[in-house]
Amino acid sequence: MTKVTVVGAGNVGATVANVLAHKDVVNEIVLLDLKGDMAKGKALDTYQQAPIDYYSTRLSGTADYADTAGSDIVVITAGIPRKPGMSRDDLISTNAKIVSSVTASILEHSANPIIIIVSNPLDVMTYAAHTSSGLDKTRVFGMAGILDTARYRAFLSMELGISPKDFQAVLMGGHGDTMVPLPRYTTVSGIPITDMLGADKIDAIVERTKKGGGELVKLMGTSAWYAPGAAAAQMVETIVRDEKRIFPCCVSLDGEYGLNDVYLGVPVVLGKNGIERIIELDLNDDEKSMLHESCEHVQAVMQTYDKIKAS
Ligand code: LAC
Repeated sequence: MTKVTVVGAGNVGATVANVLAHKDVVNEIVLLDLKGDMAKGKALDTYQQAPIDYYSTRLSGTADYADTAGSDIVVITAGIPRKPGMSRDDLISTNAKIVSSVTASILEHSANPIIIIVSNPLDVMTYAAHTSSGLDKTRVFGMAGILDTARYRAFLSMELGISPKDFQAVLMGGHGDTMVPLPRYTTVSGIPITDMLGADKIDAIVERTKKGGGELVKLMGTSAWYAPGAAAAQMVETIVRDEKRIFPCCVSLDGEYGLNDVYLGVPVVLGKNGIERIIELDLNDDEKSMLHESCEHVQAVMQTYDKIKAS
């Protein structure tokens, strides 16, 4: 019996609920939004899709946290999205308050859930949720790496004319322009990508990946939702099925990669207990220096959050 709450019935939250319902791996999804009728409508619409697409997942929408009682996993997508010209960090003053208060309200009704953060700026919102929750760091972490590697793999697939299914990749760092895709750890069906593409092409794809979210904001006037929603749903599935898959997730680092006091994307093993292991890759000097730069960037935004909290 698994109950999942998705907070925020905007494009991303509704997509998480819809994709997760299709996977038929949880019994119940509660979609919560202050705009309760929107949450009810999107949950009902997804339930009405069940006879067509064959799943048994029960869905409901609500504005009342009491309906989330006993949730095993909570996905937080609440907050405002980016508009063209904004960086993810520009969202902090609004989203910091929302994410902290959502976390507190959730914990009034669920004792020890696993919380997956999707709201931006992602790494700092993970910090906000983790510190305000008091939960173990293995139970509060952020979705970014699956999305960012998916973009990276999609761009590689387009460049090579090979199915996106066949690309494996790892990517580290913050969910922003300082993210660190790792071509040295990228393969297509086991073949190193460096054997298939020249350095210039790989560099161009890495750059496009770093700005992948912004490319969509420019096209749509708001931030993306299909791939972000599917990525969060994949994390829930992996946890529920205790698959122990490796994904890059944003977690609190305590000495891993020589870093402390920061929330950053690193490869982890995901299973029924949340983050079951952090994998430490043997990075070369260039990769280490990019990761450290990303760390400094995220820490600067964490300090902004600390100031907002103190004011
Ligand atoms: C993006 C948002 C979800 O990268 O951060 O599209």
